Amino acid sequence: MNLKAKMTVDKEYKIGKIDERIYGSFIEHLGRAVYEGIYEPDHPSADEQGFRQDVIEMVRELKVPLVRYPGGNFVSGYNWEDGVGPVAERPRRLDLAWRTTETNHIGTNEFMDWAKKIDAEVNMAVNLGTRGIDAARNLVEYCNHTSGSYWSDLRISHGYKDPHKIKTWCLGNEMDGPWQIGHKTADEYGRLAAETAKAMRWVDPSIELVACGSSNRRMPTFAEWEATVLDHTYDHVDYISLHTYYGNRDNDLGNYLAQSLDMDQFIYSVISIADYMKAKKRSKKTINLSFDEWNVWFHSNEADNKIEPWAVAPPQLEDIYTFEDALLVGSMLISMLKRADRVKVACLAQLVNVIAPIMTEKGGEAWKQPIFYPYMHASVFGRGVALHSIVSSPKYDSKDFTDVPYLDTVVVHDEETETATIFAVNRHQTETLYLECDVRSLEGYKVVEHLVLENDDVKATNQVTRDNVVPHRNGTAKEDGGTVTAALSKLSWNVIRLAK
Ligand code: AHR
Repeated sequence: MNLKAKMTVDKEYKIGKIDERIYGSFIEHLGRAVYEGIYEPDHPSADEQGFRQDVIEMVRELKVPLVRYPGGNFVSGYNWEDGVGPVAERPRRLDLAWRTTETNHIGTNEFMDWAKKIDAEVNMAVNLGTRGIDAARNLVEYCNHTSGSYWSDLRISHGYKDPHKIKTWCLGNEMDGPWQIGHKTADEYGRLAAETAKAMRWVDPSIELVACGSSNRRMPTFAEWEATVLDHTYDHVDYISLHTYYGNRDNDLGNYLAQSLDMDQFIYSVISIADYMKAKKRSKKTINLSFDEWNVWFHSNEADNKIEPWAVAPPQLEDIYTFEDALLVGSMLISMLKRADRVKVACLAQLVNVIAPIMTEKGGEAWKQPIFYPYMHASVFGRGVALHSIVSSPKYDSKDFTDVPYLDTVVVHDEETETATIFAVNRHQTETLYLECDVRSLEGYKVVEHLVLENDDVKATNQVTRDNVVPHRNGTAKEDGGTVTAALSKLSWNVIRLAK
């Protein structure tokens, strides 16, 4: 079989400017993300604050612009005041979300220091589970107010003279989920989120706020939840959140790789609901999307059921990712880039040890999971403007999806640096896909690199001692007379880079 796909791209047909926060990630006080992940004072690479520099180096490779913190489910029971001030005086608390003990050795200020070291902003979540308006507005005052008030002066007394100036804030986490501490109905949450947003913005009018959407598209309250929450909060927030995790539980690869179509549909549905509310309110304002939790998560589910409660930082949610997971992560990135006009914030959940691209050994090495690579490639090369492309690809049907294109692709153009990148996944399990891409509008652009992530074993994993799944630079893409041609190997993630 000679499998062919064609596409045409034009630099004037813009989907939208890519907000760099779309390449955000997430660190929760959960498992070994904070303790033994980013922070391990006894580690040989630890800096003066106890942060692992080997981890900092790897995170920097990912060029992560934004990190969501401190949860997740954890935030819904968190007293942020426990995590500031002299470490020796901080309380140990039971974390009911993950049934562990939180030492509070790391809190807001230390995390802000860590974020600075990786050159990232923080996307701070407030607790709307057990707490509410007062704790949230105090946290904004503590973090963002310059001085001369109780909470800002307290920050200064803790050694942080300059305000942290945190811009992006989440109003709680997954409040639609019965598993959430302080779970609420859409009306209860919508009212609380609106009033909290008002107070937070009265402290600092420059902040941007994310209201909680559904925990996933399968929630029975999905759609009604978004509509009700936005009805209450429309004038007070900037974004509505989406979360989704996929898994290959039935070991059905064709169906698994098609799951990004579910993500497409999820994004499309939430945009529709937000715009319905815009129409209903006769508003000039547009609510954008914050996909603030997304990833593959299923490998560790069984192991996590066996964890003894109340340990400090036990291994939890430590998915060991396979090559096939990296392909789906690539497609999920493509899905978000295809709606770069509306998806303005996104956080790969999570960053270190917990469903993460980076893993650490206590006292030992840090290492990269297969999903590290598509995430890094998109973050490093996917800056600029996402372009519409007309794609014609052969298709297949799977258990849950019809008309799944073998070619999944998006093109990004950066006018300033005069570079363009074609991101492409070939979903075919046995055949090379021969791509022909009309790039005549990108006059004078030539292929400078074709990176490929491929592996004969879809279940191949990396480990601290072996890197089986790593990209190579030997892709075949070339440009001739305004056409890029490339042979995309079966089951591969491709990054075709062009420059003038
Ligand atoms: O990322 C892991 C968990 O997944 C988060 O704490 C929660 O928000 C979601 O259910």
